Amino acid sequence: MVEYKFLTPEQRQHFLEHGWLLVPGSIPKEHVDRWMKDVWTRLGYAPDDPSTWEEETIWMPRHRDMLTKEFSPAAYAAMCELVGGEERVEPLRNAYSGDQFIVNLGTEYWKDHDADPRTMPAWHIDGDWYQHFLDSGEGALVVIQVYTDILPRGGGTYVCEDGIAGICKFLYDRPEGSGNKPETGMYDHIKECKVFKQFTAKAGDTILMHAHLPHCVGKNHLRRLRVIANPHVTLKEPFNLNRANPEDYSLCEQVILRALDRSSIPEYRPTAPRAHWYPRNYVAKFSRVQGELERMSRDEVDSVYLKGDEEISVHNLRNGLGEEVLRSQRVVVA
Ligand SMILES: [Fe+2]
Repeated sequence: MVEYKFLTPEQRQHFLEHGWLLVPGSIPKEHVDRWMKDVWTRLGYAPDDPSTWEEETIWMPRHRDMLTKEFSPAAYAAMCELVGGEERVEPLRNAYSGDQFIVNLGTEYWKDHDADPRTMPAWHIDGDWYQHFLDSGEGALVVIQVYTDILPRGGGTYVCEDGIAGICKFLYDRPEGSGNKPETGMYDHIKECKVFKQFTAKAGDTILMHAHLPHCVGKNHLRRLRVIANPHVTLKEPFNLNRANPEDYSLCEQVILRALDRSSIPEYRPTAPRAHWYPRNYVAKFSRVQGELERMSRDEVDSVYLKGDEEISVHNLRNGLGEEVLRSQRVVVA
């Protein structure tokens, strides 16, 4: 039986109905401030001069991290209960929270234009590093850690709440698994959906999303710095959609059962291997490391990339990266 000591009945019901949960004030301010201190230095942009903001959305590499359990105990407690207990959580991969920020600065164009979420091109579920199945636990929860206040129209992530059922059906119908790119057809149903939301939040909040909740980058109409990090919770084993005791289903599993209007799915069996590969976005993120280090070194530099091969190797393991990547990571700062 899954025990709930942290999540209230209302929070559990919210996750079941909407596929996501806000855990307010769950990242201590000192952690937010420490990693945000040099965000503009890392970006290389002038904070008060938008003409220097060359890119709209920036996926930054990770220089520093901490065990999520220590970094954000309240969010960690919520994560564990949503997946059915800490004993189901993979202890190394994705166990750390870091400063791999996703920055959304908007553009001049979006200041006075509206965006229609139905027609946004970038709807997706996360996980560019594994073959997706209905019961995949590699990215069981998609975590949004919030480092700046996110106001309405301020670049918060869009979610499509009634799109979960279409994702679950798509994966149920494909026991051979699927990639998560749009050309798979996994998101074709979203144009027919009706329940869209753009998140707002406060710095220090955490939002926990179900793996199968489709979402996309929100437009930032305000041109006010929006910073999040987007780690995941990985399980030791896939979701179990055929438990002997219904009280053992996690809330994540219940969301899938509910979406497919089932009480168990005993016939579901993946027919292809659970393939894994390196994250596709890694190269783009890593290409920013050298420039960021050079700019950081003008002030005070604190980065795993300057701590030697052993530290980098451990850091990579946490990120699901291997020795091949390490060999390409010789970074020198004058
Ligand atoms: Fe995403």
